[in-house]
Amino acid sequence: MRRKHLIVLACFIVTLCAGVLLISQPAQAMKFFRPPSMLPPEQYGNLLIDLTSTKNKVLPVIFSHWTHRRQYTCEVCHTELEINMMLNSTEMTHVNQKKGLYCGACHDGMTAFSHQADCEKCHNQDPSSFQEKYITYVNRNPFPPTEYGNQIDWVESLQRRLIAPLRFLKEPLSAMTLDRTIEREVGTSVITSAVFPHQAHLEWMGCEMCHPDVFMVKKNGTENLNMAEILKGGFCGKCHLSVAFHLNNCNRCHPGIGSH
Ligand code: HEC
Ligand code: HEC
Ligand code: HEC
Ligand code: HEC
Ligand code: HEC
Ligand code: HEC
Repeated sequence: MRRKHLIVLACFIVTLCAGVLLISQPAQAMKFFRPPSMLPPEQYGNLLIDLTSTKNKVLPVIFSHWTHRRQYTCEVCHTELEINMMLNSTEMTHVNQKKGLYCGACHDGMTAFSHQADCEKCHNQDPSSFQEKYITYVNRNPFPPTEYGNQIDWVESLQRRLIAPLRFLKEPLSAMTLDRTIEREVGTSVITSAVFPHQAHLEWMGCEMCHPDVFMVKKNGTENLNMAEILKGGFCGKCHLSVAFHLNNCNRCHPGIGSH
């Protein structure tokens, strides 16, 4: 082979390799960002609360987000009832519950079973106890499905009024609207921009659940907002790893790419 031909061949191979690399990049991104393994749908969002229980010789308390969020928006508990959005950080003792705080706001024997009886309904560490309840609930209500998390598309269920969660218990909070979708360019061709729709969130919560603690009130104002931090449970990962649709659903935030 002549030298000229060799050069042409070499150039061809380099171009081919670059092409293959470019095509396989999204797949690599997926591998690199493999989120934690998934729980069964009825266990996603369930918490085992143990700030005071074990210390006082009772079993930890089971709390299930999906059974409650079908009836109440996030802000009922996290704003009106002032329950922190962090496991084992709120003093939900019975002394406080008797004052009508936390679980006691509803578990008073009228709205829901009393916190002063049926101890084992809450002090129960068995997360699989929700399996039957979930199967019955999902069979009775044909929800639009999703692949991960609770496998229920909560956004569409709300839009189609298949659920009607209450916005408040006592203090009328009026739902806010903000038709502002933030598009965050990711600075790499590997993946499409990340999209943050304000309105889909405001159906469930008020501004204070994110501003100013989690995000700056300014586009691109939040520092270190990247996938590594999100996967550690920061920013979007605060909710989208534990309660809202799971990070595995790449395409719900990065429209146009496949799911993981
Ligand atoms: C009926 C009450 C209730 C509702 C409704 C509710 N939560 Fe919670 N949430 C709790 C409780 C209780 C905790 C645990 C707090 C503690 O242990 O201090 C919690 C904890 C959390 C945590 C922290 C989880 C962790 O592992 O640290 C997140 C995130 C969260 N909630 C998000 C949400 C979102 C998003 C919604 C709405 C879709 C929502 N919650 C609706 C009661 C509720
Ligand atoms: C905003 C009202 C509200 C708050 C706050 C609330 N619950 Fe509930 N909870 C309900 C309702 C309504 C039901 C279903 C009615 C029933 O079973 O009596 C329920 C049901 C339950 C159940 C039965 C299984 C299930 O999930 O359906 C458990 C366990 C439970 N709640 C635990 C808790 C604990 C623990 C807390 C506090 C950390 C809490 N709840 C806070 C309203 C509430
Ligand atoms: C509606 C749910 C619910 C029911 C029902 C319930 N508890 Fe609790 N209990 C809680 C929560 C939430 C805590 C705080 C858990 C934590 O932080 O570890 C708690 C904490 C406790 C504690 C630790 C001390 C304290 O007050 O924080 C004891 C003891 C206790 N419960 C006993 C009981 C007994 C006895 C019964 C039945 C008569 C009962 N509980 C029924 C939700 C419940
Ligand atoms: C679920 C979280 C969340 C909630 C709830 C939320 N925001 Fe935001 N908001 C964001 C994020 C994320 C950004 C973009 C921050 C960035 O790019 O650094 C943002 C940015 C903004 C901006 C800047 C827009 C721009 O173009 O610079 C305004 C204004 C804003 N939010 C107002 C509100 C108001 C008003 C509410 C309540 C009605 C609200 N937000 C509720 C997450 C939220
Ligand atoms: C405070 C909790 C919270 C935070 C923080 C949060 N989200 Fe959400 N997000 C939710 C809830 C709740 C929903 C309703 C759907 C669900 O629960 O699965 C939702 C819905 C969405 C939707 C709508 C999907 C659809 O089908 O229409 C998108 C997109 C989204 N979030 C992206 C983001 C991004 C991007 C961030 C970070 C910049 C973020 N979210 C931060 C709680 C949160
Ligand atoms: C809940 C929303 C959400 C989901 C789901 C999500 N991302 Fe992201 N992603 C973001 C946000 C927000 C950024 C930061 C954008 C920026 O740089 O401003 C980001 C950034 C990225 C980046 C750019 C590099 C970096 O580290 O920031 C890549 C690559 C990426 N995501 C890949 C993925 C993959 C692969 C999946 C699925 C396994 C996924 N993302 C799921 C919200 C999400």
